[in-house]
Amino acid sequence: MSPTPNVPGRVLWLTGLSGAGKSTLASALYQELLAAGVKAELLDGDAVRENLSKGLGFSRADRDTNVRRIGFVAGLLARHGVTVLVSAISPYAETRREVLSQLPGAAEVFVDAPLETVTERDVKGLYLKAIAGEIAHFTGVSDPYEAPTQPALHLRTDLLSVEECLEQLRPLAGLREPVP
Ligand code: PPS
Ligand code: ADP
Repeated sequence: MSPTPNVPGRVLWLTGLSGAGKSTLASALYQELLAAGVKAELLDGDAVRENLSKGLGFSRADRDTNVRRIGFVAGLLARHGVTVLVSAISPYAETRREVLSQLPGAAEVFVDAPLETVTERDVKGLYLKAIAGEIAHFTGVSDPYEAPTQPALHLRTDLLSVEECLEQLRPLAGLREPVP
């Protein structure tokens, strides 16, 4: 078994509304990290909910459990030198603070687009349903989203392109330049 490396991996924690761009940015960055030969993992809300957090709903208690589980796994990976990209709404500021405080050097990234924009994008058709009252407790519509007040990075995805966001994300992930 290889020893635990001295340098822990970075954790980039992307938080924001559904449709803000978390998965798009995290998966693009993940591909670049792999191409650069960096050990990386992606913990995406949807995938986590299909596996590690299967059965959890969207009450505050269930979201907090989900976020704490993601934090726990991110910590294990980072301890072994893996760069971890988390993509989860993680709507509660206090829970993010608690979880991130246990991840040395973790960076909170606020992936931000106004409700109007994410409703227009409606990537998964969920906003239409939430506004029609067909989905209860939908973040931003009928459930809270507590925006970070001091994120390491604040990306307005309604104003910046994906590439412009990646330019700002790369240094946080330890990449100096785009990886083809
Ligand atoms: S959380 O709050 O961090 O536990 O949420 P997360 O694990 O990131 O899961 C969010 C995805 O679940 C879908 N979905 C909902 N989101 C918000 N509120 C409600 N009620 C809800 N129901 C289902 C939605 O597709 C989210 O995915 P993303 O990738 O953010 O669009
Ligand atoms: P989330 O994971 O936050 O739910 P997604 O990444 O699934 O969001 O969807 C975001 C949508 O917004 C995608 O269709 C993406 O192409 C689009 N988009 C437009 N501009 C940006 C940007 N600057 N960063 C990320 N996504 C963007």
